[in-house]
Amino acid sequence: MSAIIVTPAADADMEDIHAIECASFSLPWTQGQLLRELYGEDSYFSVARDTERGDILGYVILREIGYEAELMNIAAREASRRRGVASALMRDVIEHARNVGIANIFLEARASNAAALRLYEKHGFMRVGQRRGYYDCPHEDAVIMKLDI
Ligand SMILES: CC(C)(COP(=O)(O)OP(=O)(O)OC[C@H]1O[C@@H](n2cnc3c(N)ncnc32)[C@H](O)[C@@H]1OP(=O)(O)O)[C@@H](O)C(=O)NCCC(=O)NCCS
Repeated sequence: MSAIIVTPAADADMEDIHAIECASFSLPWTQGQLLRELYGEDSYFSVARDTERGDILGYVILREIGYEAELMNIAAREASRRRGVASALMRDVIEHARNVGIANIFLEARASNAAALRLYEKHGFMRVGQRRGYYDCPHEDAVIMKLDI
């Protein structure tokens, strides 16, 4: 039976990651932006794979800023959602943050993104603020969330 494994992202994964990015967001990151995170010294970039087929099922990017970090991006392949892909990535990124001594993780999510907000709450994030009109396409508020590690 196939399962989900989380490993560091690699250059060879970029096309698959970018395809998921484009299918998931109205303003997707470019491959160049994703590559900057892959090679950035302050970034932690993981992928979730199907253990049998090896397909990329999702990815997460954390940017570290001293004792704090920002969860920059997380997405699961549309056909693989509600199977625990994002939860596996969240557990990985939180464990990494704990191991390197990060005290807090912050993130922003669209106020209408119920799936993401539920995911983050499930992993212990608390709502700490709202930024009015923060997003475009569509114009929308951001919810700011924080996890104390
Ligand atoms: C948000 C997203 C990453 C969740 O990925 P996923 O792999 O389907 O999530 P999981 O299966 O690990 O679900 C974990 C929890 O998240 C919440 N959740 C996920 N999808 C949900 C949905 N459609 N509706 C409500 N809650 C949802 C649930 O609490 C779920 O736990 P449960 O299954 O025990 O109820 C995915 O929907 C996605 O890629 N969306 C587009 C990109 C995006 O919005 N990223 C976040 C940017 S802030």
